[in-house]
Amino acid sequence: MNAIDTMLQHRSIREFSEQPIEKEILDKILAAACNGSTMGGMQLFSIIVTQDKAMMEKMAPAHFNQPIATNAPLILTFCADFHRFGIGRHEGGAFPAYQWAVTDALIAAQNACVAAESLGLGLCWLGTITYNVPQFIEALQLPEHVMPVACIPMGYPKHNNTPLTPKLPVGALIHQETYHDYSDSDINRAYETMEQADNNVKMVADNHFANLAEDYVLRRYKKEDNEFFSQVLKDSMNKQGF
Ligand SMILES: Cc1cc2nc3c(=O)[nH]c(=O)nc-3n(C[C@H](O)[C@H](O)[C@H](O)COP(=O)(O)O)c2cc1C
Repeated sequence: MNAIDTMLQHRSIREFSEQPIEKEILDKILAAACNGSTMGGMQLFSIIVTQDKAMMEKMAPAHFNQPIATNAPLILTFCADFHRFGIGRHEGGAFPAYQWAVTDALIAAQNACVAAESLGLGLCWLGTITYNVPQFIEALQLPEHVMPVACIPMGYPKHNNTPLTPKLPVGALIHQETYHDYSDSDINRAYETMEQADNNVKMVADNHFANLAEDYVLRRYKKEDNEFFSQVLKDSMNKQGF
């Protein structure tokens, strides 16, 4: 599949077949991940390959025991990494600018995703890597100036009929020349398809919310949780020297 078809066919996969990932396939995915654009040519990221189930089990609680944290044959964890760049070859060390390293790590991660999906694999990002950061730093033995930023279990899909996830219409995300703010009716139109998706209708009804936004803000991504995990992230950044 070409790159655009691959991207338009993307859907998160959370259940995998028994088929192992061949070494040549993994090597291709990693090569694609490592060949993206990168800040100043510095390649400020590292990728940790997890295939050992014991390691997956160890990290599972920090992923809130989501089944995909242990049921995939492979997990790639992308780290912002100023450690490698800062050691050995020059005096003083580089200033560890987090924003550049995160950008590089996310470019590498999405490159890996497109490569993997183009080769028939399925995957699902695990945002929990940005929640319980200290546990991942410890489990993955990350040194100073290295932070986990993306975690992507992958494998061959168990089912071949996983539906596409409803998304906002492209036009709702695009602004010509300058940002054009949204009116209430723009917002309602933009979210119409997502509001009407069967699973979202059920979720909103089951939780007695007025709309999908309430479900997100009051249940899934609550203010107090976001504040708490943002603080954990800030503390971890400081501890890692960023
Ligand atoms: C940063 C990030 C974190 C995510 N974290 C999780 C997660 O912890 N668990 C999960 O099941 N899906 C997770 N996802 C997958 C999203 O739920 C999914 O991408 C989104 O609903 C759109 O669906 P699609 O990927 O099928 O198009 C995450 C996606 C991203 C980009």
